[in-house]
Amino acid sequence: MIQYDEKTGVFHLRNEQMSYVLQVVRGRYLMHRYWGRPLHAFRDSRPFQQIDRSFSPQPAAYENDRTFSLDVLPQEYPSYGHTDYRIPAYEVRLKDGTTTTELFYKSYEIQQGKPALSGLPASYAGDDEAETLLIHLEDSKGKLAICLSYTIFAGVNVIARSAKIENSGTEALELLNAASFALDLPDHDYDRINLWGGHASERNMERVPLMHGIEESASRRGASSHQTSPFLALLRRDAGETQGDVYGFALVWSGEFSLKTEVEQFGTTRVVGGINPFEFRWHLEPGESFQTPEALLVYSPEGLNGMSQSFHEIVRHHIVRGKYRDAVRPILVNNWEATYFDFDDAKMDNLAACAKDLGIELLVLDDGWFGKREDDNSSLGDWVVNTGKLKKGLQGVAESAHKRGLKFGLWFEPEMVSVDSDLYRAHPDWVLKAPSYPVSFGRHQLVLDLSRADVRDYIVDSVCKILDTAPIDYVKWDFNRHLTDAFSAKLPPERQGEVRTRFVLGLYDVLERITQSHPDILFESCSGGGGRFDAGMLHYMPQTWTSDDTDAICRLSIQSGTSLVFPPITMGAHVSVTPNHQVGRVTPMQTRAFAAMMGCYGYEMDITRMSEEEKTEVRSHIALYKKIRPTMQLGRFYRLLTPFSGTGNETAWEFVSRDGQEIVLIYFKTLATPAAELRTLKLEQLDAAAEYEVTSYSPARGLSHDGAGNKSLSLEGKSFYGDELMYSGIEVPKIDTDFAAYMWVLERK
Ligand code: GLA
Repeated sequence: MIQYDEKTGVFHLRNEQMSYVLQVVRGRYLMHRYWGRPLHAFRDSRPFQQIDRSFSPQPAAYENDRTFSLDVLPQEYPSYGHTDYRIPAYEVRLKDGTTTTELFYKSYEIQQGKPALSGLPASYAGDDEAETLLIHLEDSKGKLAICLSYTIFAGVNVIARSAKIENSGTEALELLNAASFALDLPDHDYDRINLWGGHASERNMERVPLMHGIEESASRRGASSHQTSPFLALLRRDAGETQGDVYGFALVWSGEFSLKTEVEQFGTTRVVGGINPFEFRWHLEPGESFQTPEALLVYSPEGLNGMSQSFHEIVRHHIVRGKYRDAVRPILVNNWEATYFDFDDAKMDNLAACAKDLGIELLVLDDGWFGKREDDNSSLGDWVVNTGKLKKGLQGVAESAHKRGLKFGLWFEPEMVSVDSDLYRAHPDWVLKAPSYPVSFGRHQLVLDLSRADVRDYIVDSVCKILDTAPIDYVKWDFNRHLTDAFSAKLPPERQGEVRTRFVLGLYDVLERITQSHPDILFESCSGGGGRFDAGMLHYMPQTWTSDDTDAICRLSIQSGTSLVFPPITMGAHVSVTPNHQVGRVTPMQTRAFAAMMGCYGYEMDITRMSEEEKTEVRSHIALYKKIRPTMQLGRFYRLLTPFSGTGNETAWEFVSRDGQEIVLIYFKTLATPAAELRTLKLEQLDAAAEYEVTSYSPARGLSHDGAGNKSLSLEGKSFYGDELMYSGIEVPKIDTDFAAYMWVLERK
């Protein structure tokens, strides 16, 4: 997959879907030459223009060649201060206070498979699944050695990139910026997509024309955040869901990040991404090095859906690990919206009994089981069961669930501490805090200093003690505020700029130790919902609670936006009560169920209070979900309509089982409209020559057959060839109610 031509200095990374080409120019400079559809060979049909550009200076060696300037050349890991004025990939401050360095190509290595990144989450692959190119660059004065890593995967349109920066000199230096990747594209005829949001309204898609100058998607919150996501896409102006060139970038990093684009004077586009350099500093003594997080770079000639397919594939098979990677996930009931902090053994046991009766498989006990926690003012850090609420301890509640044939799960928020806690009273210096200023609060809680080994050991020990003493099958790992006052009592002044990064590295250390020592537990990460929904967290925990907003209609956009990068099996999605607790909306149970079936399905409501009629409906939803679950969770996912397209009033999702035997199509119409346009849904990825038999589920008749009042449109029991379903499509029956949802299940004959 990786070829090197010594004569031309060209490295050609190629699989069946794409080529990525680099070139060593003038024996020194590592340039980007091409990324797109696969090429037979790169012979330089588009040589660099030899133009004298005024105000674009020359490196000393080329003083007399005014056509040569790094300012106008496409580079793979550009520096600043030495003839290139665009966004640099890295920057250092040397002992003498200067920031100029000069990077030259030194050598390369090609390895089978994918080397691990020490202390960091990253993609992994077997020797027959990927090849990795390591390019060694060195500073002309020997002060820095940088190793760029490029992995190309067989059968997936992804390049994984990262950089390792070493102080190869004799004096200490300060790293000011260390991007995971930089990329120069030859023009700027792109739209830019990013995902913006807030707590309970995560990952809304925004598409705007790429502008001249610098634009940035970034988090400064110490977490990947609800407000933005470590993802960016550039797509051709005419590209859409299923056609056109798209370049997607996602970081395998859960801390603050920056993804910048710069369209410069001659119309080229630079993309640079990695840890946010805003507050980043890293002190490097001679011989020490810093490894950047990994970036996943996707090229798709098949629009956003093609990009998402590649991200889903890499996340599912090369990021997520462990027993649950390829296993369907249990249907759960979580007591948070059912009881909040007000629960005891009896309530939990009633929930368990009802859950069992409905067909639910896992009972989750959320916040409030530890210390003396009755509300969110106290006890974080004291991971000891509150026997006032749970008289028989965790053992009791877990065993009563197990006796009923349910799995049992528990909530933790281990990175935090309440001021009213034994932990804080014993270790007030264990929190992030500026030495001479008062500390800042978020949800009445403080953030533990995970850059400290003693804090990390405490977290690992106290969480493992619970996991090892009660029979726990599932853990929800929460993080309910962002970093402020990010200073550590343990580090010297010159290392305080490392704290925000060390916090995340410390978290990864804790997660690795806990998840690897408990391989049978299913872990779900959470940060007030989807505030840390990123590929870094998914390396340790295979699913994430997508949002604290459980309203089905809000979830259509949250889950559609999330699906740009992450596959449905990574998204926790639950049915909740109406009126909904976040937005007060009343939606039909079936709509709530169909929206939640897109992800790891569950209930987040007091199921013991449902009427018999509701229970009957829920039983039928659960039975249906169990039947289609392998397709929904392990199959391929396609967006046919999203709240970000058209009028935003319709959503349609298609799921295709891996073997192509089962297809599930779900359609939602948010508001009924008079004189509504007809809606045809054209399916994706069917076998044109195969026949598919249709079963349909409509709002009019619940989980029975469709067509009430629309008999002519009933497809129930009929069979169609794949080509007709793809090219002519399915007509959605007329809808005369708000918040309607339809489902069609197609079986290949
Ligand atoms: C966060 C989570 C919720 C719930 C609460 C408990 O907000 O996202 O699901 O666990 O914490 O305090």
